[in-house]
Amino acid sequence: MIVIGSQWGDEGKGKLVDLLAEHVSLVVRFQGGNNAGHTVMFDDKTFVLHLIPSGILQPKVRCVLGNGMVINPQALLEEVDQLLELGVDVRGRLFVSDLANVILPFHMLIDKARETRAGKNKIGTTARGIGPAYEDKASREGIRFVEIEDTPRFREKIDRLVNDKNKYLEHVLGSQGPFLEAGQVFDDLMVHMQRIQPFVCDTARMIDQEITSNNHVLFEGAQGTFLDIDHGTHPFVTSSNTTAGGACTGSGVAPNKIDQVIGVVKAYTTRVGSGPFPTELDDKDGEYLSSVGHEFGATTGRARRCGWFDACLLKESVRVNGITDLGLTKLDVLDGLKTLKICTHYLDPATNEKLDYFPHRLSIQERMVPVYEELEGWMSPTVGVTEYDKLPKLAVAYIERIAELLGVEMSLVSTGPKREETILLKSFF
Ligand code: GDP
Ligand code: IMO
Ligand code: MG
Repeated sequence: MIVIGSQWGDEGKGKLVDLLAEHVSLVVRFQGGNNAGHTVMFDDKTFVLHLIPSGILQPKVRCVLGNGMVINPQALLEEVDQLLELGVDVRGRLFVSDLANVILPFHMLIDKARETRAGKNKIGTTARGIGPAYEDKASREGIRFVEIEDTPRFREKIDRLVNDKNKYLEHVLGSQGPFLEAGQVFDDLMVHMQRIQPFVCDTARMIDQEITSNNHVLFEGAQGTFLDIDHGTHPFVTSSNTTAGGACTGSGVAPNKIDQVIGVVKAYTTRVGSGPFPTELDDKDGEYLSSVGHEFGATTGRARRCGWFDACLLKESVRVNGITDLGLTKLDVLDGLKTLKICTHYLDPATNEKLDYFPHRLSIQERMVPVYEELEGWMSPTVGVTEYDKLPKLAVAYIERIAELLGVEMSLVSTGPKREETILLKSFF
């Protein structure tokens, strides 16, 4: 089973993964790094996971950081320690792929320097060094955990990399420094690796054994479909395949081992950072969604841009991910809105053409306008409702219209941030 973000991230993947993880033995992250921020709430506690799968909060679940991820060793250890402080022991339950790439300090420096240089054209990255680390992976210059054991050769590689990156920072990106010192980068990494090494193993074989033993494995997506490096709103995307296909390449599991793909869908739309957003609101409804939905990034704290539900975009998401089930979140946030709008298609004013897909050409994206259908709001509380037939009729109408437009079964509705604030419409296992 894959749990995937169907929009621009922050759909509530963490909540759903935590909930479903009760029934699985293994939860696997397969892409991204600590750019993610997944929130889980239960027993009046709030956890925000960045690198470690949200499944870790279910005591019997084991968790894998797959080969498709880029991992900052220091951030990983900080997260392990934070979990320990909150009473969550990861020992014996956390596994890091020996083939995952390492984020090193120069990746973060490059990420920040690039954004500064781009000025108003910046992507609005999380500044965690994600893009530069994936670049090194693609150019085969990056460091994988498995190499670190081979210390003499590895030391030479760090020397070369730090030297190259310092030159790039200074002469291409115009950075004023301070610059990194290879010895320090190496020593710090060695200190971190002493604690990380016990977690490192061949995770693809481990996942395969779990599936062969008929145990349930859940793949936890990070970011969202339209932040995908190939299928997203390029260049305002992240640097990995956030779509369902990434679960296979990013974990070493074959496509025919995947049965269900749950698309997590926020009942409206949000986006953090720059880039196109056809249904974005710049009015009091937008402010309402932002404040009632507490739409601030779980990683960087930045305000998330807010807008109406975009069924046109979602249809692309259903297609590219092969979504078999919808998990609708934050329904309760819409409780106080008199009128709700759903974008069904776009209109290109230059040609009068109706677009029922998200066009690739930037010039069309810039001029097209969303076309909405209006639905009456229910104007009564749904917070914490756990049974479908206790929802107001107009809320049911909104949910069913979304399922109808997307042509996919609605399998779960979330009515609050806590584990129990959920309506399960089918049993997944
Ligand atoms: P993720 O990155 O997809 O895991 O999502 P985030 O954790 O970044 O953002 C989702 C936010 O919405 C978190 O603060 C969740 O606690 C919260 N949340 C999740 N589901 C619901 C819901 O149904 N209703 C409300 N009000 N909040 C929710
Ligand atoms: P979760 O898993 C929302 C966005 C950044 C920026 C772009 C590229 O919590 O849904 P990056 O640092 O990845 O190079 O930034 O992607 N972004 C996210 N937006 N939720 C996330 O993760 C995101 N991770 C990255 O804001 O626009
Ligand atoms: Mg998030």
